[in-house]
Amino acid sequence: MYNQLFPYLSQVRSFHVGEEYATRRLVLAAQTVGMTIWENVLDIGCGFGTSARFFTSEFGSAVAGVDINRLQVCECQRLNESEALVGDQIQVTVSNGVDLPYAQESFDVVWSEDCFSHIPDKGRHFAEVRRVLRNGGYLVFSDLLTTGRLAPTEEREFCASWCLVQLESAESYRELLEAAGFHEVKFWSVGREMVQAHSLADMARGDLSYSEYVQWLHKNRQCLSRQWSDQSFAVSLIRLKMYPFLEERALDHGFVVAQILKS
Ligand SMILES: C[S@@+](CC[C@H](N)C(=O)[O-])C[C@H]1O[C@@H](n2cnc3c(N)ncnc32)[C@H](O)[C@@H]1O
Repeated sequence: MYNQLFPYLSQVRSFHVGEEYATRRLVLAAQTVGMTIWENVLDIGCGFGTSARFFTSEFGSAVAGVDINRLQVCECQRLNESEALVGDQIQVTVSNGVDLPYAQESFDVVWSEDCFSHIPDKGRHFAEVRRVLRNGGYLVFSDLLTTGRLAPTEEREFCASWCLVQLESAESYRELLEAAGFHEVKFWSVGREMVQAHSLADMARGDLSYSEYVQWLHKNRQCLSRQWSDQSFAVSLIRLKMYPFLEERALDHGFVVAQILKS
């Protein structure tokens, strides 16, 4: 799926719910629970590295990024090189989140935006995250969440269309993280906030409300496929499948921050 979307995604650079607003908001959430050290950061599912470059410019972090998709890692490397001031502080590697190519206790922070629902074996994945975090380090991530309000067939269809293995809930993430030895698991439900913060209407059709805009997109679906070279249309089509669910609370978007204390 990410290979097919590459031409469109490479125009928008960051591909998670809420985009830069969400990145900044997730940093703030982590800071409210006392997270202050951002020196060595691992970004799992880093995509084009927009957040990695944000960390180097905002906090002077050294960032390692992993992503399973080679095209995105290559584009990330190219973008890093074009930003000379931050580029050499970022190392990206093609790798799977369940098998991280780093020594134990390498990072202060493991960060991820909207990637974990792609990862099948969460137990193994969180054990890997624990291994590479130093004692006292934090896992900070966002993800799409199930609210239990979609019919199982609808949820399966949604997951299939996004290549997601399965959607977790706030509760199931808490259980998985506690089982992996994380403490102080904090959760924020931000689905509605992200939709409100990201007015699609403003982006593409300044004069329409969000629901009018969604109606307009549905009506014009057929002709839109011809216009995918226009980035706002491409991105709109991608969002069209997700944002209405968030607005109706049929799905949620969540922030999670958890600390690891190794005895
Ligand atoms: C929704 S995109 C988010 C990309 C990036 N975090 C951003 O916000 O722009 C999810 C990313 O996770 C990557 N991914 C999917 N499964 C993965 C896995 N098992 N290990 C590492 N990365 C994975 C995809 O290739 C994709 O780049």
